[in-house]
Amino acid sequence: MREPAEIEIRTPDDFHVHLRQGPALSGYAREAARRFGRVLVMPNTLPPIATPGELASYRAEIRSAAPELTALMTFKIQPGMDRATVRSLRDAGALAGKYYPLGVTTNSEDGISDTDSVMDAVAAIEAEGLVLCIHGEEPGAEILDRERAFLPRLAHLARSFPRLRIVLEHVSSAAGVEAVLALPERVAGTVTVHHLLYTMDDLIGGRLDPHLFCKPVVKTRADRSALQRAVLDGNRKLFFGSDSAPHPRSAKESAQGEAGVYAMPVSLPLLAGFFAERGALDRIEDFVSRFGAEFYGLPPNGGSLRLRRARWTVPEEIDGVVPLAAGREMAWRALDR
Ligand code: NCD
Ligand code: ZN
Repeated sequence: MREPAEIEIRTPDDFHVHLRQGPALSGYAREAARRFGRVLVMPNTLPPIATPGELASYRAEIRSAAPELTALMTFKIQPGMDRATVRSLRDAGALAGKYYPLGVTTNSEDGISDTDSVMDAVAAIEAEGLVLCIHGEEPGAEILDRERAFLPRLAHLARSFPRLRIVLEHVSSAAGVEAVLALPERVAGTVTVHHLLYTMDDLIGGRLDPHLFCKPVVKTRADRSALQRAVLDGNRKLFFGSDSAPHPRSAKESAQGEAGVYAMPVSLPLLAGFFAERGALDRIEDFVSRFGAEFYGLPPNGGSLRLRRARWTVPEEIDGVVPLAAGREMAWRALDR
């Protein structure tokens, strides 16, 4: 069947974005607001979002930059964080707490080395009906094996807290997909465009592409296929979270390049191409506008967004950042909402 040249979908959500802080924030927030109704904002700022005051002022900063964007707030779980703090973060409007293992990604030097040190916080997250978002990589494991090596901890957390809703963020491996699908309904995963479309061949198979370097790293073709199959299947446990993580060009094109892909400007066009090429464009709406909201217990967004088959070239740089697929021609465009 020939795919249509344009579709209209319910306004989408992005359940994993980094909006950063300070002067750079407003460009990133406005870029998000052009297409997304709601974004789940990651808390790995410096200092992290870990108190009600920090959460409220971060939300206010985002709101003043992009009033039409709904920022869904998260906090960073700190080792030893107590139940009262989690409750106060819930009262301040947090939807989720984010679990960052020690040292596995950008600004995780204050991360968790011992799961026991966050059991109180996780118990409170469960009791308060919040979601536990996990960066699922095991510190010290080999780079390509870090996600798989973390999965026993994921299963353990799911077993220990029988009502806890958990999201394994940016699922990147076949083992990760399999684990999410095998665990109960209350365990889901976000999927990024880069893990869905790229592999290590794109990252290091030719010349090094620092702008595709992220944690977890893009993996093998078999891993990518497992992600693609599960997403095309329309499994409601996998929904969109771009992990759009901008770093200034100089921080990426460096001997100590930062991890993070600026996917926001191209995520919907790339996704539309992915689904359309497989004759499955009718599945994109569930993936970007429905499954995530349902998992988080949010009402569907009002309004809609149009995706149109139209050629355009991704800018080489946006707000000082090299976006994913910079300089490439896209076959689909997301019209501003
Ligand atoms: C993210 C960042 O830059 O904040 N980097 C990344 O490679 N994905 C952090 C994260 O989500 O791991
Ligand atoms: Zn992230």
